[in-house]
Amino acid sequence: MEDIVALCKRRGFVYPTSDIYGGLTSSYDYGPAGAELLRNIRNLWWNYFVKRRTDMVGLDSQILLHPNTWVASGHVSAFNDPLVEDKKTHKRYRADHLIEAWIKQHPDKTVVVEDLTIDQMGEFISANGIQSPEGNELTKPQKFNLLFETKLGVVEGEKSTLYMRGETAQGIFTNFKNIIDSNRVTLPFGVGQIGKSFRNEITTGQFIFRTIELEQAEIEYFFDPETTDWKTLMDEWKQAMWDFVTKELGISAEHLRWRQHTDKERSHYSKDTYDLDYEFPFGWKELWGIAYRTNYDLTQHANLSKADLSYTDPKTGKKFIPHVIEPAAGINRMFFMILAEAYRKEEKRTVLAVKPALAPTNVAVFPLVANKPELMDKAKQVFSLLSKQFSVAWDARGNIGKRYLSQDEVGTPWCITVDYTTLEDTTVTVRDRDTTTQVRVSIDELSVYFQKKLGII
Ligand code: GAP
Repeated sequence: MEDIVALCKRRGFVYPTSDIYGGLTSSYDYGPAGAELLRNIRNLWWNYFVKRRTDMVGLDSQILLHPNTWVASGHVSAFNDPLVEDKKTHKRYRADHLIEAWIKQHPDKTVVVEDLTIDQMGEFISANGIQSPEGNELTKPQKFNLLFETKLGVVEGEKSTLYMRGETAQGIFTNFKNIIDSNRVTLPFGVGQIGKSFRNEITTGQFIFRTIELEQAEIEYFFDPETTDWKTLMDEWKQAMWDFVTKELGISAEHLRWRQHTDKERSHYSKDTYDLDYEFPFGWKELWGIAYRTNYDLTQHANLSKADLSYTDPKTGKKFIPHVIEPAAGINRMFFMILAEAYRKEEKRTVLAVKPALAPTNVAVFPLVANKPELMDKAKQVFSLLSKQFSVAWDARGNIGKRYLSQDEVGTPWCITVDYTTLEDTTVTVRDRDTTTQVRVSIDELSVYFQKKLGII
């Protein structure tokens, strides 16, 4: 974990937000390499789940929605975490997380933390003398709402409370009528959306795993429960999620597992929920959730807004409120998982063995030396040629060996060196990150060579 965090800062993947002011709780910025990796994950997800399917459309709704959205969805009343406070330092913690940490140290005590009510957590804490990480007494757990509030309005006193969205999903539900009225969609169909959500999380020390600002990639897949069996549909979506993570993101199946939520743990809107967990450096944790939200959300919004959110079957004329299966992923958790999976420390180098299509840079181009204009010119030609198609880095500093090591650390799968032979026969060396072997390839053939390697052709 420390190695990954250090690499992220050293090589421009992730920086603490507002670093010069001492940081901001559970907040991180993504540097040049991180921004590229995030963009690649987003694009891959969007292509896989939205563009390549005939039954999906996309959406980009706002972060600030009408406040009634969050009343109808139940988030104002039920989107809570159990909060305890250190009586001396006044630092705040999640009661369930402290109990989980305590159980790890007392394996003889078994309890399903997810099943405890807030009062039972309080009883468990006092019965077992659980203290804060600073060793002080804790307050009784209280419900703490995760929605961030903000104010709308320019005239003092006439402000109204808005909420930063706690999930992107609600923008899909509130646009359901617009989408069916403006698109030739028929059930079953889904709406995919990627965007920022905000949660006032009480958390410490899990790097980008749990942050207050997060990016979600969510799908609401609408269907008629009388003609589509929800369990079969859920299994199909679970398979699609699994395939995406193993095949597209290159994650080993050994580091993945499904976990079904217990009855008490499930969100207020769900009839059945599974988490796709990844084995992060600090243990098995949720990467991606899938829930059967029934027609809870559309019904709630129809009741509060008085809008007609029903769907009319074009063949039978049957009018009803569709149900949904919701696969909901966190882009930042995918990012963390990809780094954790790819990070290797070898004897002489550190390598980020990410899938080539995900790497921040596909190819790096080096002139053998920077002080020979012929080599510089030729290398710049290669850079221009390839940068039209691929993400290409340029490095003309220091010796070639160091340049290779530097690219290995940020996961660049191939490095091209333009040398004196290039000037004679227009071939370059292509060095492979994983095997460190080198081959000579003609400049004319580089485009096809990399397209084949990336599986584009
Ligand atoms: N619409 C359903 C929903 O929001 P969720 O399980 O609360 O469900 C979905 O969130 C995904 O969003 C999670 O599986 C996780 O990957 C990501 N996520 C949730 N809270 C997060 C946080 N505080 N920081 C980073 N990612 C988070």
